[in-house]
Amino acid sequence: MAAFGRQVERAGYGLILSPMFEEVGVFVRGMGEGTDVVSKEMYEFRDKGDRHLALRPEGTASVVRAFVQLRPPVVWKAWYVTPAFRYERPQAGRYRQHHQLGVEALGTDDPDLDVEVIDLCHGMASALGITRLQLLVNSLGDDVCRPAYLETLTAYLDARRDDLCDEHRERYAANPLRVLDCKDEACVRVTADAPRLLESLCGPCTGHFGRLRAGLDALGVDYTIDHRLVRGFDYYTRTAFEFAALALEAAQNGIGGGGRYDGLVEALGGPPTPGIGFAIGIERLLQACDAEGAFPTPATSLDAFVVDLTGGGAARDITDELRTADLRADRAFDRRSARAQLKAADRSGADLALIVGPDEVAAGTVTVHWLRSERDEETVPRHEVAKAVRDVLERARS
Ligand code: HAM
Repeated sequence: MAAFGRQVERAGYGLILSPMFEEVGVFVRGMGEGTDVVSKEMYEFRDKGDRHLALRPEGTASVVRAFVQLRPPVVWKAWYVTPAFRYERPQAGRYRQHHQLGVEALGTDDPDLDVEVIDLCHGMASALGITRLQLLVNSLGDDVCRPAYLETLTAYLDARRDDLCDEHRERYAANPLRVLDCKDEACVRVTADAPRLLESLCGPCTGHFGRLRAGLDALGVDYTIDHRLVRGFDYYTRTAFEFAALALEAAQNGIGGGGRYDGLVEALGGPPTPGIGFAIGIERLLQACDAEGAFPTPATSLDAFVVDLTGGGAARDITDELRTADLRADRAFDRRSARAQLKAADRSGADLALIVGPDEVAAGTVTVHWLRSERDEETVPRHEVAKAVRDVLERARS
């Protein structure tokens, strides 16, 4: 999360914290009544004032609701980390509570912003060391060209209705795009030769997609066009994208995804304002890191662990001095034995144990003992312990 924040803040995104639940209408109007997440997966409840609320199933609708209320100057760029709740059948990589890191940028439909957002998502996965990554992109068109495409697709599906999966045979007419998203073999077969959205785009949407592709090429971000990529929410327009971690099972390998939603601000009561964003699923991201063995040997988590054999007061003061000097320090509590404290020091992952016993107190010193290397012990002056520890570490690490 810290790495994500650093990366997106470099690109001008500010942290936004929005509430864990909203009026249910924010999600219904935002994501679309017919979507699986809204119709089957939301945790809905009534509060004591009989308000109909829902736990957030994702971050975008709430951030856009906040934008509509606050009306900040555009281009407005926000990032967030949030739990998200979906009533799904729990399985590997799919949970009823998962966590998302995301960004939303509102106020322009310049395709360079699409490129920036996709590149940030890509940068996050690559920074963690994931190498087997596939970027899928598509364009979902806009209000001008999509209606005609939906008619063409519906006519195509009408002629093949009996070959669709049980669910979509009954439901495809309400939202034919969902059939393209369906993982059931029957629907996959039927849609293999379905008319393609990209071939039905109007001039402006074609131009937008062309500039997106040119931007990704210029930044050296590889991508594959996926004609079936429609994403699960109704708010998407034009650019849609997803990153798949190839080291994970195909059914659950989407580690992050997003797209443009140029009508969402208006749908939630604001002025016409285009926008785009993405969210990364933290659990999936970590699973992909594990599957690729991407995490480097963990860096030591602490610089020093104070072992105090004089009752605890020295540990209290020295950890405080070290932390004030921006060093990472911890200690044992409960006046434990020397042996137990050294064991805790070892387990803590610290580089150094700083030992203070009666002899050190009498001499005004601290003994510096290396926990992870064979280096010799040193004695440093107690009154400048933080500076001395920093020097010792810098010498060893340089
Ligand atoms: P989403 O694709 O539904 O998009 O979720 C984003 C990511 O959250 C997915 O790529 C996946 O890694 C993770 N995820 C989703 N559901 C689960 C689950 N049940 N268990 C574990 N991980 C899960 C959105 O939510 C959009 N709001 C993204 C966006 C932002 N579009 C525009 N701006």
